[in-house]
Amino acid sequence: MESIENKRKEMQDYLDAQKSQKDRNKMGQFSTPYPLALDIMRYMRKIVGIHNASFLEPAIGTGVFYSAFRETFNINNKVLGFEIDPLYYNPTKKFWENTNLNIRCANFLTQHPDEKFDMIVSNPPYIRHHHLTNESKTWLQNQVQQKFNIKISGLAGLYCYFMILASEWLKDGAYSCWLVPSEFMDVNYGVAVKKYLTENVQLIQIHRFNAEDLQFTDALVSSCIVVLRNNKPTKNHEVELTIGGEITNPEKIKKIKISDIKPEDKWTNLFTENEIDISSQNVLGDFFTVKRGIATGDNSFFIINEETITRYNIPKQFLRPIIPSPRYIKGNLINNIEGLPTVEKREFLFSCNLPENILKEQYPKVWDYVKIGYERGVNNGYICSRRKPWYSCEQREPATIIVPYMGRSDKKNKSFRFILNTSKAITTNVYLLLYPKPQYAECLNNEKTLAEVWRELNDIPTEKVTRNGRIYGGGLRKMEPSELMRTPADCIAPLIVSRTSNKQLTLFE
Ligand SMILES: C[S@@+](CC[C@H](N)C(=O)[O-])C[C@H]1O[C@@H](n2cnc3c(N)ncnc32)[C@H](O)[C@@H]1O
Repeated sequence: MESIENKRKEMQDYLDAQKSQKDRNKMGQFSTPYPLALDIMRYMRKIVGIHNASFLEPAIGTGVFYSAFRETFNINNKVLGFEIDPLYYNPTKKFWENTNLNIRCANFLTQHPDEKFDMIVSNPPYIRHHHLTNESKTWLQNQVQQKFNIKISGLAGLYCYFMILASEWLKDGAYSCWLVPSEFMDVNYGVAVKKYLTENVQLIQIHRFNAEDLQFTDALVSSCIVVLRNNKPTKNHEVELTIGGEITNPEKIKKIKISDIKPEDKWTNLFTENEIDISSQNVLGDFFTVKRGIATGDNSFFIINEETITRYNIPKQFLRPIIPSPRYIKGNLINNIEGLPTVEKREFLFSCNLPENILKEQYPKVWDYVKIGYERGVNNGYICSRRKPWYSCEQREPATIIVPYMGRSDKKNKSFRFILNTSKAITTNVYLLLYPKPQYAECLNNEKTLAEVWRELNDIPTEKVTRNGRIYGGGLRKMEPSELMRTPADCIAPLIVSRTSNKQLTLFE
């Protein structure tokens, strides 16, 4: 048996090497390591309870779960697999030809269930929504709506549709087990999956790996295992939330009543054993509006250095200073000379709203630069093709406090830092920008107050800032504007006085 697995792994590596990382991303082709597949199958053997269970693998690849299935269940059981990509399907079919594995080359999601199974185990493709065509997205959304009465967001990745639609292939009381990215537990598009797991079936267990423990060496995602049973949920049943180690032997177990789990909640918070005290009266969003920096549509074209400016004679009115990526910002303070940030890498945003005929006539050298954008197809990108002219970027005021939207925490560094920007430079969307609410703008115009607020913000413990954010593989954390606005901020409340309360005070002076 072991040697069959070795040969299968060889075939997997060979086939993976035929494709670029980009193409594998597009088709969600990241294989499960065999030890993990085996652990999952051992777990399934325990909960399914029968040795002769039939097994469906909707996205089979080269069959790592089938290989593990043969180790744990009766090898004569009925097994059906689907694989959409002939590059994997053909050699896999040949490889397992003398076994009882029946494999079809098809898109699993468009298949009509012609038989039902005792169990499904799968690592479905993690294809992001922007790789799906509008037509197939709408079709999938309608399927979920019609069959399960669930409205699913167009931002959902393909794995969400697999988890929901596959249950049509399950016998009553059968189990399914999904190795999926844990992000569905926290992001808005995951609400549909969470609704399905709490209202349509019986959620049995969710196992989270430690974020530092990457399950896939070649895809940066933090994964979890979701186990469900094809039964109507009962109010009192308990779900097991497990963390760390293997699913057969987790490091921590927490049981929670299904009625205490809501689809709208961030489920990764449910796993936290010792809740952090977040009984704060004030949150950052009470004082600041947080926005993303601008999306240029193509940074390599719109963000330029002084050499390009000189070469194409680009005048000042088409340029805005821009803060370079956080990795070039040492410390938490950006000083300025005449409004320009004193940073290691000096960059500018190119943006011009003159129509082409005027640009050609009045600024022929700038037009030469725009032509380069045409040659590279920058004008056809999603964002640029929706702008008029495509080379005019969004207008934005500089923000005095900016936060890199992505961070990795380690012992030395905090994953999120509040950077004081004294320059007139704006930023791209690698930063979140804090703009004071109108009633606090006056107070925060005062340099001393601003500096104190900035220091206090940097003293907020990382766990409090990141509690609302999302965690990805390798400890990478990301934060949306609305998530940052929910950061507890009692510490700055005494420093900031609203304009109206100022007036109140003067009345009594
Ligand atoms: C994440 S890989 C997992 C492969 C294998 N189950 C494993 O764990 O190693 C997902 C596989 O599903 C295939 N796939 C993608 N979309 C599919 C679809 N709509 N129907 C069936 N297979 C699909 C991909 O080609 C890929 O081989």
